[in-house]
Amino acid sequence: MSRFVAKSIDQYHTLYKESVENPEKFWAAFAEQEFVWHKKWENTLSFDLRKPTIQWFAGGKLNITENCIDRHLTTRGNQTAILFEPNDPKDKPLHISYQELSKQVNKTANMLKALGAQKGDRICIYMPMTPELAYTVLACARIGAIHSVVFAGFSAQSLSDRINDAQCSLLVTADGGYRGQKITPLKAIVDQALISCLSIRRVLVLQRTGLKVSMKSGRDVWWHEVFAKASDACVAESMDAEDSLFILYTSGSTGKPKGMVHTCGGYMVYTNYSFRNVFQYQEGDIYWCTADIGWITGHSYILYGPLSAGATTVMFEGIPSYPDMGRFWRIIEKHKVNIFYTAPTAIRSLASGDLSWVHSHDLGSLKTLGTVGEPINLEAWQWYNEHIGQGQCPIVDTWWQTETGGIMISNLAGVSKDIPTFATLPLPGIQPCLMDEAGNEIATLEAEGRLCIQFPWPSMARTIYGNHQRFADTYYRAFEGKYFTGDGAKRDKNGNYRITGRVDDVVIVSGHNLGTAEIENAINEHPLIAESAVVGYPHPIKGHAIYAFVTLRSPKHEDASVGIKIEINSLVTSLIGPIAKPEKIQFTAGLPKTRSGKIMRRILRKIAEGNTESLGDISTLLNPDCVEQIIQGASI
Ligand code: PRX
Repeated sequence: MSRFVAKSIDQYHTLYKESVENPEKFWAAFAEQEFVWHKKWENTLSFDLRKPTIQWFAGGKLNITENCIDRHLTTRGNQTAILFEPNDPKDKPLHISYQELSKQVNKTANMLKALGAQKGDRICIYMPMTPELAYTVLACARIGAIHSVVFAGFSAQSLSDRINDAQCSLLVTADGGYRGQKITPLKAIVDQALISCLSIRRVLVLQRTGLKVSMKSGRDVWWHEVFAKASDACVAESMDAEDSLFILYTSGSTGKPKGMVHTCGGYMVYTNYSFRNVFQYQEGDIYWCTADIGWITGHSYILYGPLSAGATTVMFEGIPSYPDMGRFWRIIEKHKVNIFYTAPTAIRSLASGDLSWVHSHDLGSLKTLGTVGEPINLEAWQWYNEHIGQGQCPIVDTWWQTETGGIMISNLAGVSKDIPTFATLPLPGIQPCLMDEAGNEIATLEAEGRLCIQFPWPSMARTIYGNHQRFADTYYRAFEGKYFTGDGAKRDKNGNYRITGRVDDVVIVSGHNLGTAEIENAINEHPLIAESAVVGYPHPIKGHAIYAFVTLRSPKHEDASVGIKIEINSLVTSLIGPIAKPEKIQFTAGLPKTRSGKIMRRILRKIAEGNTESLGDISTLLNPDCVEQIIQGASI
């Protein structure tokens, strides 16, 4: 047992103190003790958060896949590493042992090499939640290629934007992906995306659904054809701790999505550390995180964290509502899942169904529950606790971000107390602080402010791919010398944090970050639309939903408004993806603007929330009259 995994609240406090008093010593000891390195690092940490430059374990050599796979082969080669539950409940689950995973990853790695992939190349992965997705991610890491997984629900345009931004040379996809009863035609989307991508030389296509696809000769190859010829031995590339491991895109409050870059060493160290501490994983536990690998939660807590800890991690291809609303609970019963980690939006959606879906299953195997992605409301927390945890399971409310790489603030299961709606305390090594609007740190414990992190931690993003200036401006400009999270938070008198939500123009819809500017840009592509403003408003299931205020070029087009709404939805779907579709669209004669012409989204947000009493002083607006009109027409 590692002394770095807190087993009691006292141990947590001791570790926390140690990690803050001497972070370098703390992380060096953990990294040295718990992982296989080819060569020890020269400097544990060097940083300057004003630039920012951040390096952890620089000069150290390793390969993350040796820590996730090879080192387990002698001790747990036959243990299930990945338990794959297919979309169709009639299909057999796959128990992929560490031994088998090793072979599959090596073969996949050799297949990528055969297609010309080399260390440092960017490889885009646009795949359904099949084991081959996991193999591909790990195979990239094995050969030192940088994976860029794009969630397979994104549109052709979003995919090509991401491929072009990272200049990927290879794309791995499938003919199609199952989602309940539907099949997403992934290869067809890829074909459309690649019309505007010149960097992609080869496309590897997994046959999953049997959907008929067209294969471009010289570019496209079938997975099974190349795979059959690949050897199952592949020496892991020796990577510098600071070499890039992956790029993962996340929406920003302005402009295009940002390709967050994570590096090999620090990311490995911290995902392992946080996985073991937060979930208190015990030998033999079955752990299930319901996220998609297309998001950071899937990267860190389906793959890298659990596998580096030698865990059995469940990978689910389907959706919670197929074939019925009891699917999650049936999977828990079937595989005797002990640790279950999901999003508040899934909890709320399942809680809105009939309780008999839950109660007809034996959930007695569960020991720990977790949530991630957005603040969990009290009602959802209580339902989760009472009906899923049966009042017996700690619920870890894990606050973190694509940018942070791993869980930052959370109770530790059974070790520190859970407090409904609070993420509670920072993990050892994490030093949060609250800032006021004037940019000063709030010294009192009980406080509310903007959440920053004031000292580096190993899995922090190092840059935005190809745009370090944007990285500096977005995260390190608002509060000098500190990482700004974009979230607001409250802190109670015992130091527990409660995340109140985004304080920028990012809206979290069903756990997905969406930049309002990106949606506005998509809507504004419509030839009859003059301008638009997009805000989020509270939604009972999705957490937040999108409300679009739209001004037409000419009032005469209002007759066509039903058709225009449909066109807006299809524009947003094709330019971003269905997750970004507005729930409500309101046509307005004008949008409230400051005298300098800036749209006052704050006012629109209040109107969308139905909170028109507290609009504040609107007399200074350029066009105060439009506000009353918008209130009258609002659909709340
Ligand atoms: O606003 C916070 C919210 O999700 C944002 C990060 O989104 P993303 O990068 O997509 O990563 C999601 C999975 C880690 C945060 O800025 N968020 C995440 N977890 C929580 C949360 N808000 C409240 N409570 C949480 N537990």
